[in-house]
Amino acid sequence: MTVILDFLSSISWWAWVLIILIIVAIRDIFIQRSHTISHNFPIVGHFRYWLESIGPELRQYLVANNREELPFNRIERGWIYASAKKENNYEGFGTDRDIYAHQHIFINNAMFPFKINEKHPNALDKSFLPCAKVMGEFNKRKKPYRPASIINVSAMSFGSLSAKAIESLNKGVALADAYHNTGEGGLSPYHSNGGDVVFHIGTGYFGVRADDGSFSLEKLKTLVEKNPFIRAIEVKLSQGAKPGKGGVLPASKITKEISEIRHVPMGQDVLSPPNHSAFSNVKEMVDFIELIAEETGLPVGIKAAIGKLNQWKELADLMKKTGKGPDFITVDGGEGGTGAAPPSFADHVSLPWVYGFGDLYKVFKEKGLTERIVFIGSGKLGFPGKAAMAFAMGADCINVAREAMMSIGCIQAQVCHTNRCPAGVATQSKWLQKGIDVPLKSERLAQYFKTFKKEFIEITHAAGYEHPCQFTMDDIEVNVDDHNLSKQLSGTYQYNKVAVPFTSMQDLKDCIHLGGIKKNNK
Ligand SMILES: Cc1cc2nc3c(=O)[nH]c(=O)nc-3n(C[C@H](O)[C@H](O)[C@H](O)COP(=O)(O)O)c2cc1C
Repeated sequence: MTVILDFLSSISWWAWVLIILIIVAIRDIFIQRSHTISHNFPIVGHFRYWLESIGPELRQYLVANNREELPFNRIERGWIYASAKKENNYEGFGTDRDIYAHQHIFINNAMFPFKINEKHPNALDKSFLPCAKVMGEFNKRKKPYRPASIINVSAMSFGSLSAKAIESLNKGVALADAYHNTGEGGLSPYHSNGGDVVFHIGTGYFGVRADDGSFSLEKLKTLVEKNPFIRAIEVKLSQGAKPGKGGVLPASKITKEISEIRHVPMGQDVLSPPNHSAFSNVKEMVDFIELIAEETGLPVGIKAAIGKLNQWKELADLMKKTGKGPDFITVDGGEGGTGAAPPSFADHVSLPWVYGFGDLYKVFKEKGLTERIVFIGSGKLGFPGKAAMAFAMGADCINVAREAMMSIGCIQAQVCHTNRCPAGVATQSKWLQKGIDVPLKSERLAQYFKTFKKEFIEITHAAGYEHPCQFTMDDIEVNVDDHNLSKQLSGTYQYNKVAVPFTSMQDLKDCIHLGGIKKNNK
């Protein structure tokens, strides 16, 4: 033994390096079969794979310019990070955007901004910005709900996101008076930390499913009774990143906790199909909405990405005829995010938010139905300028998913589908989650929302309005070329939104249906 050890220690370091290289070369040429490049160029071929694997980081940190990256460029990410940390989020020297570029948005400012007196709700709280409409008011639901914040956390499940991320988001929305949408994976203890919750029902009915996988009304009623912080229910028809595509939760990701929350067995993959089993046409969907609204007393809405309009027209006709239907509609843009989706779906199926929303709004406007629906937009709208455009087009609230993730530390590594999220946000790895400090991250989400609302109010005042619901299509212009060709939204998208019946911020503040934890503490 000593002889062997003596012999090994007598070999110099460069001889070891040589031996290792020879072993790698033998493996590359004679043993491995999967990589042609390594076979044809032993040893050096590995550099190609290594450089390719760190390419995204090299581009993100060194090469890409400030406005180049997608889905969110460096300026957008930087604005969210700085806003969430309450750091200086201004930019010096003027915009670095090409404001003559195609599709650039302009907000027409008034000669004199809207002026508030010292008793105005926004003089007392610069980020007080509730929704101008009440969910469920028209349909006389037993528990109508006015979201206390026009920006809220979009559907993302426990399973897709880590426990610590969900807990941070929920505690954050409580601090910002916003709501937290559970996503398809059911209600978890991490969603139950003080924030208003919108319970999301996907095709898998996770959390409210019977043993055979069908929807269980009894389970939903019990869930709502036990958790009064559930303020509304959203039935998911589709999402922008993968409309018409069901999901798979691999057996390896189903922990005991997830299996209990989702009411699914352990040890086997769980499929959420493309279609609902509880309804299969527009009329049955409306009956389903009315049934759960009646049984739970809550406002019920639907979420969808937009493509063909014929079934939406059928829905509008039925709503007009029966006086029934969804209390809110969440329109997700084709640019929307996901935990995992095939690129062919994410890139091509469904319209981008502006086109999809414009088409859909017109359908309901033609039937005179817009006042009874709260329109929610999602799809990279978590920036005040883009939100102003969305409100001008008819949105009443916005939901944000990836912007919320970034506020709690997501670095846009784009590996949500691998369970290896380096920021601990989109992973079930206990080790990776350990870095998330929940009190700190919940403050950051809340601060991002507060900064967003404060800047949105300032933009609204600059345009001469008190509340963003007053934006009209003529207030925003979109560049289609030079100024003679730049068109107001009403010209580009061929409609004008119906005026929202807004009286004053004070009336919204006094509304008995106002959500959020500060409602009893005005
Ligand atoms: C990690 C992750 C998980 C998501 N899970 C769901 C889901 O369970 N149900 C759903 O309807 N949408 C889901 N979405 C889509 C978002 O709710 C949202 O509609 C979309 O990302 C657009 O918003 P954004 O541009 O602010 O991210 C998810 C998105 C992400 C990034």
